[in-house]
Amino acid sequence: MIEVNELTKRYGAKTAVDHLSFTVRPGHVTGFLGPNGAGKTTTLRLLLGLDAPTGGSATVSGVAFRSHARGLRHVGALLDAGRVHGGRTAAAHLSALARSNGISPRRVDAVLSEVGLAEAANRRIGGFSLGMKQRLGIATALLGDPPVLMFDEPVNGMDPEGVLWMRRLFRRLAAEGRTVFLSSHLMSEMENTADRLVVIGRGRLIADESVGDFAARGAGLGVVVGTRQAAELAAVLTAAGASVDPEGARGTERLAVTGLPAERIAALAFEHRILLTELTTRTASLEEAFMELTAESVEYQAGQLR
Ligand SMILES: Nc1ncnc2c1ncn2[C@@H]1O[C@H](COP(=O)(O)OP(=O)(O)OP(=O)(O)O)[C@@H](O)[C@H]1O
Ligand SMILES: [Mg+2]
Repeated sequence: MIEVNELTKRYGAKTAVDHLSFTVRPGHVTGFLGPNGAGKTTTLRLLLGLDAPTGGSATVSGVAFRSHARGLRHVGALLDAGRVHGGRTAAAHLSALARSNGISPRRVDAVLSEVGLAEAANRRIGGFSLGMKQRLGIATALLGDPPVLMFDEPVNGMDPEGVLWMRRLFRRLAAEGRTVFLSSHLMSEMENTADRLVVIGRGRLIADESVGDFAARGAGLGVVVGTRQAAELAAVLTAAGASVDPEGARGTERLAVTGLPAERIAALAFEHRILLTELTTRTASLEEAFMELTAESVEYQAGQLR
């Protein structure tokens, strides 16, 4: 369990995290989303005790991370995969960490094969590709078999096969009852991985809910109706309080209807002996819901050409 309560972090005049509160529960993959500069990395750093908060608290399993003895057995984290000693081999790097955290050296081989780096165990990390470093970072996080895992932008630099592998791994770790917290600035990366979302913008909480509830916020795009009696149907629906727009290419008879659910539209059409050829409820994609919700908090936006 991860608990963040009224967490605030200021860097001079800049407030990176602003009275942020949320809870991340075990047994789920929780996506931590926000546009660039939203404060995701800062929050993870505060959770890991790499930085001190200006106010509020961030705890893992009920205690501030700094106070966990033998940290890797309590929390596994991947923040910046590039920040490892390039001169060491993967096995030596993990062995040193295992020793200093009181973890059995047997775990080193286990996590290296878990992440697909068994063959590269004795190669120097300096020669690793970005994706390999990312895998090594995940191996490091898994080394202590911890109940809580945090990953900052884990999918960066992974090829499609690697993304799929990671997705399955995260889901399995959650199914084992662990707390899995993943940051991303791309909703598409979370869509098939996370079942819960914590969304922030400019350091503040925007949403903390299930993926389904989040998607429903962006819904309400209306219903598309197809019929050869478009004018007749439009009149009926307008009279029933809907707003109706002819839509689609010329020659096709489709109407975009808002203000009435599909079921009511079908009933009205039936009553007036109007044959429907299509009836589709449009829901916003997660990506659209995310863009809509964070639009006001996007900090670095490209200027518009005039
Ligand atoms: N050490 C620091 N000194 C000054 N400002 C900082 C520092 N670290 C972060 N910030 C600022 O705090 C804000 C939040 O940064 P953070 O890195 O947490 O965002 P993020 O959500 O991880 O973004 P991204 O998606 O780009 O990784 C940014 O405006 C950033 O410039
Ligand atoms: Mg970041």
